[in-house]
Amino acid sequence: MTSTARSIIVDTDPGQDDALAILLALASPELEVLGFIGVAGNVPLDLTTRNIRVICELAGRTEVPVYAGANRPIKRALVTAEHVHGSTGLDGAVLPEPSMELQSQHGVDFLVETVLNRPENSVTLCSLGPLTNLALALQKEPRIAPRIQELVMMGGGFFEGGNITPAAEFNIFVDPDAAKIVFESGIPITMFPLDCTHQALTSAARIAAFRALSSRVGDACAGWLEFFERFDEDKYGTDGGPLHDPNVIAYLLQPDIYGARFINVEVETESQLTLGMTVADWWQVSGKEPNVTYVRDVDADAFYKLLLERIALL
Ligand code: BDR
Ligand code: CA
Repeated sequence: MTSTARSIIVDTDPGQDDALAILLALASPELEVLGFIGVAGNVPLDLTTRNIRVICELAGRTEVPVYAGANRPIKRALVTAEHVHGSTGLDGAVLPEPSMELQSQHGVDFLVETVLNRPENSVTLCSLGPLTNLALALQKEPRIAPRIQELVMMGGGFFEGGNITPAAEFNIFVDPDAAKIVFESGIPITMFPLDCTHQALTSAARIAAFRALSSRVGDACAGWLEFFERFDEDKYGTDGGPLHDPNVIAYLLQPDIYGARFINVEVETESQLTLGMTVADWWQVSGKEPNVTYVRDVDADAFYKLLLERIALL
């Protein structure tokens, strides 16, 4: 970390791709991780909070506090994705059970307190799972909205369609009500939808590069990516699968490798058919105020180069 490091809170549901995002953040001196908050998503909360601590211990960063946030969406029953991530959420690498403790404070209270106590516009939120924790924090303390520097989040999709239903991406589908609250909050939002992350595909060569680091962290990353790839190869019919969440962190480090437009995005919360869809007004035909920087393109080679270089430092 440098004296001018950007302060971030990472809200996450690991998840192999969350794991790589967490490692990228911990490996990057430009970022100061104030804390991790677990949310129920890919797997239930007890596993996501366990997995965050497994990853912190792998990186040797046990001083970063880990909080448990919401154990279910605001209004709906939890939907999980063991069919993608395996029963632990982190299948693909065998790692020890963590000995690091969870903080006793609730993650939502940590979020509210941190944003209120730190200088205005000095905290960036990185969301890698359902937006439940931030929505609960906004309901509890609306004064946090204008104090948050930026929300950088993975979720949604428009041109690519969905990955959990034909219309919806998983993170938004799990808690569309939370996403609606967040998208209407006025917080500056930068969003990484499937339209972008489906360009950041793993490949045999990209995975081999992690293995060639010949380190515990490199082996774990290769194992996780192989697990992901096995699943996604059949699904997407490509050489590899999309690596979603690390784009959020990579953007903070190298925004110039991404292409985006500032547009209006709204979340569907009513229709059964399109529940959780993020309707992106890319062509600005609605006349509605832009609320989201919608990232649609990535230089995938530059993304994987950055990821590998930083993970090699751990
Ligand atoms: C998102 O859903 C999860 O399965 C991944 O971790 C990522 O955050 C992709 O749709
Ligand atoms: Ca995730």
